[in-house]
Amino acid sequence: MSFKLIAAIVAHFLVHISAGAAASDDVGFIYQGFQSSNLSLDGLAKITNNGLLEVTNTTISQTGHAFYPNRINFKSTSNGSAFSFSTQFVFAMVPELAVVTGPGMAFVIAPTRGLPGGRSVKSLGLFNRSTIGNRTNHIFAVELDTFQNEEFGDIDGNHVGIDINSLRSNVSRPASYQANNKISFDNLTLSSGQPMQLWVEYDGADRRINVTLAPIADAKPKTPLLSLSCDLSTILQQTMYVGFSASTSPIEGTSHFVLGWSFKVNGDAQALDLSQLPKLPRFGPKKVSKLFTVGLPLICTLLLLTVIFGSAYYLSRKWKFAEVLEDWELAYGPHRFKYKDLYIATKGFRETELLGEGGFGRVYKGVLPTNKVEVAVKKVSHQARQGMREFVAEIVSIGRLRHRNLVSLLGYCRRKRELLLVYEFMPNGSLDRFLYSQPKYTLHWSQRFHVIRCVASGLLYLHEEWEQVVIHRDVKASNVLLDGELNGRLGDFGLARLYDHGTLPQTTHVAGSLGYLAPEYNRAGRATTSTDVYAFGAFLLEVACGRRPIEPRAAPAENIILVDWVFSCWKAGNILQAVDHNLGNEYVKEEAELVLKLGLLCSHSEPVIRPSMRQVLLYLEGSVTLPDLSSLIIGISGIGLGSAYGGYEDIKSLSSSSTGKYFSHSVAESLLSGGR
Ligand SMILES: *[C@@H]1O[C@H](CO)[C@@H](O)[C@H](O)[C@H]1NC(C)=O
Ligand SMILES: *[C@@H]1O[C@H](CO)[C@@H](O)[C@H](O)[C@H]1NC(C)=O
Ligand SMILES: *[C@@H]1O[C@H](CO)[C@@H](O)[C@H](O)[C@H]1NC(C)=O
Ligand SMILES: *[C@@H]1O[C@H](CO)[C@@H](O)[C@H](O)[C@H]1NC(C)=O
Ligand SMILES: *[C@@H]1O[C@H](CO)[C@@H](O)[C@H](O)[C@H]1NC(C)=O
Ligand SMILES: *[C@@H]1O[C@H](CO)[C@@H](O)[C@H](O)[C@H]1NC(C)=O
Ligand SMILES: *[C@@H]1O[C@H](CO)[C@@H](O)[C@H](O)[C@H]1NC(C)=O
Ligand SMILES: *[C@@H]1O[C@H](CO)[C@@H](O)[C@H](O)[C@H]1NC(C)=O
Repeated sequence: MSFKLIAAIVAHFLVHISAGAAASDDVGFIYQGFQSSNLSLDGLAKITNNGLLEVTNTTISQTGHAFYPNRINFKSTSNGSAFSFSTQFVFAMVPELAVVTGPGMAFVIAPTRGLPGGRSVKSLGLFNRSTIGNRTNHIFAVELDTFQNEEFGDIDGNHVGIDINSLRSNVSRPASYQANNKISFDNLTLSSGQPMQLWVEYDGADRRINVTLAPIADAKPKTPLLSLSCDLSTILQQTMYVGFSASTSPIEGTSHFVLGWSFKVNGDAQALDLSQLPKLPRFGPKKVSKLFTVGLPLICTLLLLTVIFGSAYYLSRKWKFAEVLEDWELAYGPHRFKYKDLYIATKGFRETELLGEGGFGRVYKGVLPTNKVEVAVKKVSHQARQGMREFVAEIVSIGRLRHRNLVSLLGYCRRKRELLLVYEFMPNGSLDRFLYSQPKYTLHWSQRFHVIRCVASGLLYLHEEWEQVVIHRDVKASNVLLDGELNGRLGDFGLARLYDHGTLPQTTHVAGSLGYLAPEYNRAGRATTSTDVYAFGAFLLEVACGRRPIEPRAAPAENIILVDWVFSCWKAGNILQAVDHNLGNEYVKEEAELVLKLGLLCSHSEPVIRPSMRQVLLYLEGSVTLPDLSSLIIGISGIGLGSAYGGYEDIKSLSSSSTGKYFSHSVAESLLSGGR
């Protein structure tokens, strides 16, 4: 502070030395701040408490002038040539809101102090309407123009220009400067509120005016912003006054500050010590303007981006987890699953979670995110919406089926082309995996017999013990699942109804599976409890023999059809020959014989001969003895095996490459190509 004061006093002293030497050709002064200076001020111009020269404050539609008090000789004689001179000053323009910036300010050399006629706001306080453009003005100015006035041919609203007797600049350029070691110019905003330096130099011999602009932090650039070849001898009179003029716009005020100023005739103006200059006040409006010009757009952009990305994310999620929900489904609330939950449960239906691929679709393992329950999710693709309503109603009613030998259907979820069915998870997978996979996980006889009784019990529940008759339509080893205790549990019941509803693509499928289809079902296409029993018969033989109902690669050819082969074994009086060789002798002969004979009985081509599931269970429990097979078969047909087992005869003819009349072509194709 004290140092500053000393500097100010020194500066003040200097001024007086210079002023005292006014008569001589060499005149110069320096103001590092304007504390206790003796400038000539008018209009809005004043010196602030901390030594800033405020040419105007933010009052609108006003002018301000600040002149060095003493006259300065620019020539030795009135008709001589003008001396060289140079000046440097630091200025700052601080608009109140930066919505509209004012006309600007100018460094001026004029014949009179304070430009008595210069009251016109739009002419930066340099001229009035009658004097503007008149040769008799003898005014030289460097304008820092922040308003594009078409009247004066302004190039833009932020330029520096050289004006002689007029505001129509002899030369002007957008405010810019040559930064260190660069050839191109960087733009500057005059009314940014930041202090900037300006140099004005006139070479009397070369008759050239140079004007150079730079931000406060930069050294004087090598290349001037403006360089005008012009003889000021006719413009400048022998003695002139130097100073600043500024005006404010009628709409919004701008404070024009000069922080420091040095001037010299016939020599280089003393360089300002920028560290000595007074500080600009902190402006509220400046902060607001920063907020408006930088903060607000930034916040808006960020907000906009957030909104865009947010909604994009939301939409993509919505699309990803989109599911179909119609009004009528609201009643099934508890049985509906959210697609999102199933998606998370199955880790996005990842391949690693795939349990298997059945006739209806792929099955994935999942853990429900809500209650951590393990489930199996079956993805069934469907086409038509038609019949969906009935089907879902059925699914939901099936979902109410609860039996220890049924795989519980927990619920469903619908998407556009997909139906997702959620089942209890069976840790041991399907039975056919145990019977056929390599290496075999062969089940013991007792385990097999237990599974058979389980399945019979489940099927009985479906047929007779529930409130309505449910036909399974697809009883087979791959639809029998084993729980943790190796209990057999029947799965996929009722699903075959999808075909009837026409909601599944009707390509290669006949509801049910080849080898398990009762002959009358093929003929009439009507599923009954007897057709389920027929399939159960095939299943019995399958479990006991460890062989698929149809083994296209079996040799000799007569053995392709399992039931045919078992029948022939029985005919030959050695039915136990058909028992799975993997069991060796480790089985109960009576039980095996019972299962095989029951399998044959259930496979009878006449539905009325087949036992009901209740009877089947009684036979399996041993509480009723199986009727004599030979009497039944002979009794019905009297011709023997051929017509009694009509179903397989057709398959036999099929296997010898003629198309079976009970099967659709597509089934034949899938059989011949070794299909499912
Ligand atoms: C500007 O200065 C004038 C004269 O000094 C004063 O009357 C006016 O109130 C000032 N305006 C503002 C906005 O400070
Ligand atoms: C300041 O300048 C005025 C003329 O503008 C002069 O009358 C006065 O004496 C000067 N004061 C000082 C201290 O130089
Ligand atoms: C300059 O003006 C003076 C009188 O004002 C005159 O005597 C002199 O000849 C003029 N010089 C030139 C070179 O015009
Ligand atoms: C314009 O300025 C001149 C000289 O400075 C003055 O004589 C004249 O009265 C002014 N006119 C107006 C309209 O202000
Ligand atoms: C210029 O100003 C002078 C006196 O101030 C006046 O006589 C003359 O008519 C003016 N010229 C124009 C073109 O206005
Ligand atoms: C500098 O400003 C001028 C005029 O306003 C403009 O044409 C030019 O593109 C700007 N240059 C840069 C680098 O912003
Ligand atoms: C003005 O600028 C030109 C070009 O940079 C330079 O050649 C000349 O010396 C400069 N004159 C003054 C007086 O600085
Ligand atoms: C500068 O402009 C004024 C007024 O337009 C004109 O009289 C003068 O001749 C110009 N000077 C130069 C060097 O262009």
